[in-house]
Amino acid sequence: MTEWNPTLRQEVFAEAPDTEPERQRYFMEQCRILVEQRARETGHVPTACVVNFGCQMNAKDAEKLQGILEEAGFQETDSEEADLVLYNTCTVRENANLRVYGRLGVLNSMKKQNPEKIIALCGCMMQEETVVKKIQTSYRFVDLLFGTHNVFQLAELLYRRLTGERPVLDIWQGTDQVVEDLPAVRKYPFKSGVNIMFGCNNFCSYCIVPYVRGRERSREPEDILREIERLAADGVQEVMLLGQNVNSYGKTLAHPLSFAQLLERVEEVPGIRRIRFMTSHPKDLSEELIQVMAKSQKICRHLHLPLQSGSTRILRQMNRRYTKEQYLDLAARIQEAVPGIALTTDIIVGFPGETEEDFQETLDVVRRVRYDSAFTFLYSKRTGTPAAAMENQVPPEVAQDRLERLLAEVQRIAGELCGKDTGTRQEALVEGLDDHDPALVTGRLSNNRMVHFPGDASLIGRLVPVRLTEAKGFYYMGRMEE
Ligand code: SAH
Ligand code: SF4
Ligand code: F3S
Repeated sequence: MTEWNPTLRQEVFAEAPDTEPERQRYFMEQCRILVEQRARETGHVPTACVVNFGCQMNAKDAEKLQGILEEAGFQETDSEEADLVLYNTCTVRENANLRVYGRLGVLNSMKKQNPEKIIALCGCMMQEETVVKKIQTSYRFVDLLFGTHNVFQLAELLYRRLTGERPVLDIWQGTDQVVEDLPAVRKYPFKSGVNIMFGCNNFCSYCIVPYVRGRERSREPEDILREIERLAADGVQEVMLLGQNVNSYGKTLAHPLSFAQLLERVEEVPGIRRIRFMTSHPKDLSEELIQVMAKSQKICRHLHLPLQSGSTRILRQMNRRYTKEQYLDLAARIQEAVPGIALTTDIIVGFPGETEEDFQETLDVVRRVRYDSAFTFLYSKRTGTPAAAMENQVPPEVAQDRLERLLAEVQRIAGELCGKDTGTRQEALVEGLDDHDPALVTGRLSNNRMVHFPGDASLIGRLVPVRLTEAKGFYYMGRMEE
């Protein structure tokens, strides 16, 4: 792959179109020529493995990256023995970074066996200067680095690598560009994430996302609807609208449109049977949205509403811009307007200055709202965020103890809630065969709980009525009904 004629390389760059996505389509084609040539030389089609760390936004980027690699001629694989390995990284908590460094060591030993192996890194970690410096000095076997703003450029960057440049490094500080119409490989044929916005403007004081994902930008509603119509035509039943704060969707558009209005338009797309979205910031969740959810036939009865802390004092330090009372009031209004809705949340324990009293406030909210499930995190110090410079960092053993107590409470309540729908008939979207028993299939209910029931592979991707016969901790057993 690395053999190259410099004159030809120059010609290719001179001929590349200036506009997107045409430019990237052109580079996908150029990569494909080289990859096919390589396949002829070695007798096997070069393989590529994309490993995703992080959130649903990252997972969506990974599908785009995979789509580009496929167009560039690579064969997709799950094995990191692949000819090209691309890590799409996350840096939201320190643990996410440590996992990447650990696994890079393993890739390095594989590369010693196969020096032609291409190791590429992208995603949120790459937007941090300290990380890039560390990779450049201590992980010199990495071939290709890029960030969150130029995911769409993978083919062009890869072409530079395939034609001999090493390392290829291209990290943008920010962008207002949204490139449409690039290929993507979808993980599931029957459901799909759809970006509606990128970036975040909230600057919660603990969070690194606004620094690594840049300022908030919304996609044009027409582009979003066109994508959803295409997905529907392709057999997709369920869409998940994605953004760091979907409730502020549309504010930056030339013709502003609220998130609730966008949902109403998505509701009208024929063929789409279910709509989900992620993530909602409580401060921006409007009454209009609650009303749209209440009357919708397609929006799922599940809302992820990150709390972060139940203490008004800590919430202020976190720059969340709501109080405990406002959050409780919002949750109650939603539960009243959408009966049976499942609320889930994210909670951080051990934020700087958090006292036992503050933590008790969090437990109080957990008990009052009664979440279906909650992601609980130990506060992780992120360099460059305001909270990292705060005094009174909570000792790790105190934070750990709170995390355990919180988890016990969350699990107790979630366990109690799971049984509440036993005996009812609900629609389930069948996602696959049961992992443990091939005579069963696994389906997802509107409220995001799973149900296992007798069935076969022909049901995968179908929305079917199921009677919930038994609650088992966090999921149900059931039987299909006509
Ligand atoms: N935009 C989403 C969340 C994105 S990050 C929102 O506002 O809800 C996902 C979750 O990671 C957050 O909800 C928060 O609970 C957690 N998180 C973010 N930064 C963190 C940090 N520094 N330490 C621990 N958890 C953090
Ligand atoms: Fe981070 Fe807050 Fe933005 Fe969510 S809303 S991504 S927690 S800054
Ligand atoms: Fe992680 Fe980036 Fe998402 S930091 S949580 S992958 S936006």
